[in-house]
This record gives sequence, structure tokens and C-alpha cells, in this order.
Amino acid sequence: METLFLDSSEKQLEIAAEIIRSGRLVGIPTETVYGLGADASNEAAVAKIFEAKGRPADNPLIVHLADFSQAADYTHDIPQLAYALAERFCPGPLTMVLPKNERIPKITSGGLDTVGIRVPSHPVMHRLIELSGRPIAAPSANISGYPSPTSAQHVMRDMGGKIAAVVDGGQSEIGLESTVIAIENENTARILRPGYVTREMLLEVCSKVIVDRAILNELESGETAASPGMKYKHYSPRADIVMVEGELRAFTDYVGENLTDNTYSLIFDGDAQGFPYRYLTYGADSAAQARLLFQRLRELDDVGADKVFVRAPSPEGVGLAVYNRLIRAAGFEVIRI
Ligand code: TXA
Ligand code: MG
Repeated sequence: METLFLDSSEKQLEIAAEIIRSGRLVGIPTETVYGLGADASNEAAVAKIFEAKGRPADNPLIVHLADFSQAADYTHDIPQLAYALAERFCPGPLTMVLPKNERIPKITSGGLDTVGIRVPSHPVMHRLIELSGRPIAAPSANISGYPSPTSAQHVMRDMGGKIAAVVDGGQSEIGLESTVIAIENENTARILRPGYVTREMLLEVCSKVIVDRAILNELESGETAASPGMKYKHYSPRADIVMVEGELRAFTDYVGENLTDNTYSLIFDGDAQGFPYRYLTYGADSAAQARLLFQRLRELDDVGADKVFVRAPSPEGVGLAVYNRLIRAAGFEVIRI
């Protein structure tokens, strides 16, 4: 199949909207990462998402709406806390898991009775939902297990030839996927996947916020995941990733003692001066690290890295999301020195 490369003009978005309405797939920019979109209410269209990504059928998709007021069309018993959170964070990088109704087919929710609802702030995604008149199911537009795409070119690489079109909306502003939360009761939210909306930000609206254990810990065998996505190895390039926690001096020594033919280091901007081994940098603060991480993981494949030592980011604020993606990319291999 030929994959159209569309720009984000109204004319081209009308083409993309028609593709969604006719049950086919489009790569779409959002403020977090690029999504692989289809009509969430069309079972055959949603099946194509799972096929194109090679995604396990029990891993549910997020449904994207133009406005949170539409959530009542696809869910039931929305808690008051969800409205309060929507007031503060929608549109934006927050996904709320809510009880779904029959308008969301089981294939979309990975067989669950709940559905993740998100109202994206990116104007292109927003316009496409409006023009298509459909709820848009969209996982990240990467091949399952690979780092999420943060540019239209990344989507073309993973999905070119397999989907009808990609809309180019430039580089993703945030660079990591949305914060996914479940609402436990009228004052408590549980973070299932950390993102740009941090625990501290959620605490402005909720009196209690639980960080799910699976965010930083490997599931024990037999343990069920609150979010099925947490069961799978994720965000992983071909290279073997090792996270190293410690001061720059100790990190540098460790890399020197463990060099292989094609070792790279992924370090902070401020570490680069005089660093004696091959490296890429991924920013100086958590927001920059979030924006750059997935792009750098892809670049490490492009340069043929076989082993990558990563300076572990601070797990505070947005850094928790960066840390979570890296620890998964590393298969939970963390060296503390
Ligand atoms: O920022 C984002 O969220 C991007 C953009 C495209 O919107 N989408 C995204 O989708 O990251 P995906 O499918 O790659 O990740 C969705 C995550 C998975 O870990 C999935 O298991 C979890 O959200 N999830 C979705 N629906 C859920 C549900 N009903 N209950 C628990 N977890 C759910
Ligand atoms: Mg994903």
C-alpha cells in the first residue's frame, strides 16, 4: 500500500478525516507522541491497528475526543473527580480510565470494561477528530515494543506501506506519552503510567495520588497489571540498554571498564565536555529529556550501537516518566555505583 504523506493544511486534513471515516489508519501528530489513529467505534478499523503494530490483543487503546463533554457518550458513571481533573488538565496529556459503554467495542478496550479517554491539545489531532466526527482510537504509532515516534518521519519508518497516510505536524512537543490514571474514589487517583502531568500537578485537584508499584518495579510472575501495557517490554531499541546511577566520574569509569566494540553512552548535556567515549546527549533537565529520549533511542540504532550506558535521570516531577521509560527500555537492568 502507498502511504500518503500529508501536511496539516485543512485540505489535507479533510483527506485524513475521510480515511478515518472509511475505516483505515492514519499516523497523527499529538502534543505527546504520534498516534496511529482509527475510528474507535469501528471494529474492523481497530483490528488494523493491532495488526499494523503487532500489538497484543489484550493491550487496550486510548480513545481521543475533541472535548471532555463527549466522554459521557462512550462511558458511564463518570466520577465527579474526573470532571474536576478534566477542568484542570483537558485538553492535554492526561488519559483517564473510565467505565466504558457499548459504543466502545471490546476490541478497542482490549477486552476490558473500561476505556482510557484523552482530549489531546494538539490542533491537528483536535481538528481531525472534529472533521471525521468519530472518536479516534490511537496508540503510539511505533511497532509494538519499539520507542514511540516523535516525528512524522519516525512514523513513516515504522508504518510506511502499512497504513493509508501520515499527517506531518512537526516534532512532538512533549515527547513522552500521556499520564494514564485510574480514579479510585472521589478523592484518589492512581497513576498507571507517568507522563508530563505529574503527581504534584494531580495533587492540585485530588487529595490523594497513588503511584502504581508497576511504574518502577518489574511485575512478579502471576501479578496482574492494573494497566496491561505495563506487562510488556517497551520503548526498546535494538541495542542493549543499561541504566547507570551515580556521579559522572563513577559513570565514566564504569563505561571505560565495560566498553565493547560499539558502546555508546547517553549522557546529560552538561556531561559532554571532555567525555572520553562515544556518546549522545539527551538534555539538561527533565522536560528536555522527555522531549529527546525516544529520538535519541532511535538514533542509537541508526549509528549501530550494540550497548548503551545511560546516565539515569532524576525520577522527580516529569523525570519520573523519563525514568519509567528508560527502566523499561533497559529491561529493569540498573547499575548503582
Ligand atoms: O500520549 C499518549 O497517550 C499516546 C498518544 C497517541 O495519545 N498514546 C499512547 O497509547 O501512548 P498507547 O496505546 O501506546 O499506550 C496506552 C497505555 C497502555 O499502556 C495501555 O495498557 C494503557 O494506556 N491503557 C489504555 N486503556 C486502558 C484501560 N482501560 N485500563 C488500563 N490501562 C489502559
Ligand atoms: Mg505505546
